[in-house]
Amino acid sequence: MATTPALEETYGQKIKGRREHIKMDRASFAKVLGLSVDDVVAMEEKDGGELTLEKLTQIAGILGTSASDLTPEFVTDLDGGVRVQAPGDNPVVEGMRAGTEYYTYNCLVRTRTLPKLVPLLLEVNVDDPAKAEFNGGHDAHEVIFCMEGDIHLKWGDPDNPKEATVPEGGSFYIAPNVPHTLTATKGSGPAKVVSVNF
Ligand SMILES: [Fe+2]
Repeated sequence: MATTPALEETYGQKIKGRREHIKMDRASFAKVLGLSVDDVVAMEEKDGGELTLEKLTQIAGILGTSASDLTPEFVTDLDGGVRVQAPGDNPVVEGMRAGTEYYTYNCLVRTRTLPKLVPLLLEVNVDDPAKAEFNGGHDAHEVIFCMEGDIHLKWGDPDNPKEATVPEGGSFYIAPNVPHTLTATKGSGPAKVVSVNF
């Protein structure tokens, strides 16, 4: 299971910083919030206290900013600009479609500094283009490298798809929101591709 990453600051520090930035004293802030000054001290000095998203949004409104502006940054997960993931730490996700284990996703290294970047080693388990099952497209750009085996790609309208066979060593790009599906070529056994979503 993923652990909750540490934060650079506390919510309380962010709220206090914003309050001071707009020159609002604690007494005025407490009054608008309907809290005592002691409550505000507790909130600012003790990690935000019992802070709900609703409360944070209310506070953001009072302080003339957004809840995201009051949300602390994560501590970086890079070591001098690098993050290493050992083979045993690759999460494996079964990609079921139409009742079969269509893909197996081996999740390669990610970094919270670039959350849109999602690299995968994808095992393509079905080797019959006639049994292709489409997705509905996704919001990421995708680049795929055919690492092991030949891939049959279908895309566009599932009822009248475009098709291409991409041999081992080939690669292709899929734009966001284009429905698509991969199988290995007929009777060739499972294949493997590297897929980079960004
Ligand atoms: Fe995809």
